[in-house]
Amino acid sequence: MKYRTASRMHQNKNQNIYKQHVPVLLNEVLQYFDPKPGESYLDLTAGYAGHAEAITERTGSLTSTTLVDRDSNAIAVLKETYGDTGPTLLHTDFLHASEQLLSEGKRFDMILADLGVSSPHLNEDTRGFSLQGQGPLDMRMDQEQSITAATILNTYKEQDLADLLKRYGEEPKARQIAAGIVQARPLTNASELATIASSAWPGHSRVHPATRTFQAIRIAVNDELGLLEKSLPLWMKLLNPGGRLAVISFHSLEDRIVKRAFKEACGSGYDAELVELTKRPVTASSNEIVTNPRARSAKLRVSQRK
Ligand SMILES: C[S@@+](CC[C@H](N)C(=O)[O-])C[C@H]1O[C@@H](n2cnc3c(N)ncnc32)[C@H](O)[C@@H]1O
Repeated sequence: MKYRTASRMHQNKNQNIYKQHVPVLLNEVLQYFDPKPGESYLDLTAGYAGHAEAITERTGSLTSTTLVDRDSNAIAVLKETYGDTGPTLLHTDFLHASEQLLSEGKRFDMILADLGVSSPHLNEDTRGFSLQGQGPLDMRMDQEQSITAATILNTYKEQDLADLLKRYGEEPKARQIAAGIVQARPLTNASELATIASSAWPGHSRVHPATRTFQAIRIAVNDELGLLEKSLPLWMKLLNPGGRLAVISFHSLEDRIVKRAFKEACGSGYDAELVELTKRPVTASSNEIVTNPRARSAKLRVSQRK
């Protein structure tokens, strides 16, 4: 292989970023994809190429690989890793990337979407994703986007905020938290938001009391569910005959959308375009969860074009 291997990747200046993200359900993805030499691969959420590297090691074909990410840090690291002669890199969200690839007539043997944020997002305080952080209220995956968490928290009407916390966070105390946010305006950093959300839940709980609030604001800032819903039918169209589509989701709102889209496409009739390879979502083993706690909520669903 011409591109740098993981061990060489670790030697360069971004080495800390690489080390932070461990791909989830990697063995399971490889098992369902069963990559063959020469097969093409589209990674819609390439991040730091954890999955991509393992898959392209098996296909041996970087030129038929396309890596997409909406985060400019991830794209910069991918450029540094692969240089100009490797895979096609697309810095955009996966809906735009899918529309572009379809219009160019591209098709793939394997397509992966490993949804949500990467470990560097959570570990870099300046991004504002972390519940424990002191960072600004940002939460954008695409740093060029204009709407940030601060825009939503400081300008939305109280009722709209409450609706958003209920819909995207399934937060039972949505109204109380929305009122606290409006009263504390202007909010400037993530710790203020964590304090307001936590004050609605006095006492101890297993999960950080601000988890649902952060999830809701992050989903809204990045339009995560809207993009997923619109993109799934396009991903199915981008599959070659025999091609496999795998989606890893991290919460029930995402998984519901994936489950429904797969069910519609796979149906029960002989004329369905796809077959579902995972009758139930695949989850991480207890061993993986011990070494990579992010895997705890991961759910993998895979389908295949006939
Ligand atoms: C869970 S990480 C993927 C990690 C990757 N599979 C790996 O092993 O390194 C998700 C990545 O997808 C990107 N992302 C999330 N939603 C996206 C979207 N709608 N379009 C493009 N990229 C997206 C994020 O910026 C992040 O880098």
